[in-house]
Amino acid sequence: MSADIDAVSLLEEQHREMEKLFEELETVSGVRKRKQFLEIADKLAIHATIEEKDFYPAVKAKRTEDILLESLEEHLGIKRVLADLLALEVDDETFDAKVKVLKEQVEHHVGEEEDDLFPKVKKLMDEETLIAIAQQMTATQEELITKGSPRDAVPSETDHAPAI
Ligand SMILES: [Fe+2]
Repeated sequence: MSADIDAVSLLEEQHREMEKLFEELETVSGVRKRKQFLEIADKLAIHATIEEKDFYPAVKAKRTEDILLESLEEHLGIKRVLADLLALEVDDETFDAKVKVLKEQVEHHVGEEEDDLFPKVKKLMDEETLIAIAQQMTATQEELITKGSPRDAVPSETDHAPAI
């Protein structure tokens, strides 16, 4: 990741990585499946947090407000399924079905961000501002990684969507 990446590119890179991780999850089993799933859970937790804490507040404007509110509700739905999955063994009979739902919810959310939110953000904000937001998101991400197991916060975030 280059030092002057902009916020939209950073999030899109993470979206592509998430797609790859979900694909790989279908090819592994047992202990490797658990490990792969926990990596997805950590990455989703980080991704949601840097969006909610840094990106969404920074790009909040009249033209983005509705989609941001919808995005927050989508994050909530994703976190609820994720919290369910974190409490299950990978060989539980409902695990794969819940993973499928999670993957579909993430794909839908990613599609809306990339087709609707990001183009609006690019029109609203200049490159320099988007680079500064990316730096803030990277700092938050480092903090979460240093603290360890970002997924552990997910079950406590399933009541309601945060305000931005
Ligand atoms: Fe998101």
